[in-house]
Amino acid sequence: MRHLLAIADLERSDIERITDRAEGFAEVGRRDIKKVPTLRGRTIINFLYEPSTRTSSSFELAAKRLSADVVTVKATGSSIDKGESLKDTIATLSAYGPEAIVIRSPHAGAAELVARWTEAAVINAGDGKHEHPSQALLDVYTLRRRLGSLEGKRIWIVGDVLHSRVARSNVQAFAAMGAEVTVCGPPTLIPRGFEEALGCRVSYDLDGLGEADVVYALRMQRERMRESFVPSIREYAARYQIDSRRLGSRQLLMHPGPVSRGVELSPEVIDGPSSLIAEQVESGLVVRMAILYELLAGGRTRPAGARAADPEQLPGPTPIKEPA
Ligand code: CP
Repeated sequence: MRHLLAIADLERSDIERITDRAEGFAEVGRRDIKKVPTLRGRTIINFLYEPSTRTSSSFELAAKRLSADVVTVKATGSSIDKGESLKDTIATLSAYGPEAIVIRSPHAGAAELVARWTEAAVINAGDGKHEHPSQALLDVYTLRRRLGSLEGKRIWIVGDVLHSRVARSNVQAFAAMGAEVTVCGPPTLIPRGFEEALGCRVSYDLDGLGEADVVYALRMQRERMRESFVPSIREYAARYQIDSRRLGSRQLLMHPGPVSRGVELSPEVIDGPSSLIAEQVESGLVVRMAILYELLAGGRTRPAGARAADPEQLPGPTPIKEPA
């Protein structure tokens, strides 16, 4: 793999390889010294054009645990505030010779454009309403750990599907892994043609929710709305909020975060025993280590002059030696 731009570009075997490798990296997190030298001497730039807590911090920590040199640039406070274009900003950052650029942008297709403008491997950390592939991979990893396999599992994705890049990536990733996916929400928040385009079912109410093995709730993305899509938040919550009346004890609950407490989820289910929300965040770190490994050390074609990965330095049981 040269870039990670969209789940649509991946085969099931790619998803399995990355999530299997993440399992190996989980062991690194249990060591006293939580670091391996795999990407020593490599430079990774995290370029966040839009707010982020989980994706930003986990990509940075993932790069550090792999011993890469990492710098995080946020749009606010950068020269973008002074009117520098995305293309010029990427040219500037590429001058440092990074091996990877992680980009989050409010614009669909931004990561693909960046991939045309730089020699670095590009990781899409969320581009507008389009895709958030690393989120989908960490969610598959979380579910594989819990359920063993997603084959035949019923997953309901509930909420604001229209504005959700997570929904687009996750429907494809879950389906590729053999799950039966249903998206659910008010008709105004389900894109037309979603069912045919992505091969999932659509429901406009929660009547059939009891069949779900996994309930994946989505936030109402009010920052992307320029008009009213529901009569009121109170009415939306009355019809679509996942609470302890609606969530059965055998069902697992997921959410990509950040959560709007009391809107898409009631407080008791967020903190309840069925919730995998904290586990998803934990998975984000090891899955992003596995993504960086896949692109920078897993056999991708490197630009001339770049060093190949040292097989001795792949993740394993030996902790990194402290400097003498
Ligand atoms: N799930 C997710 O992308 O969270 P952040 O916006 O905090 O990165």
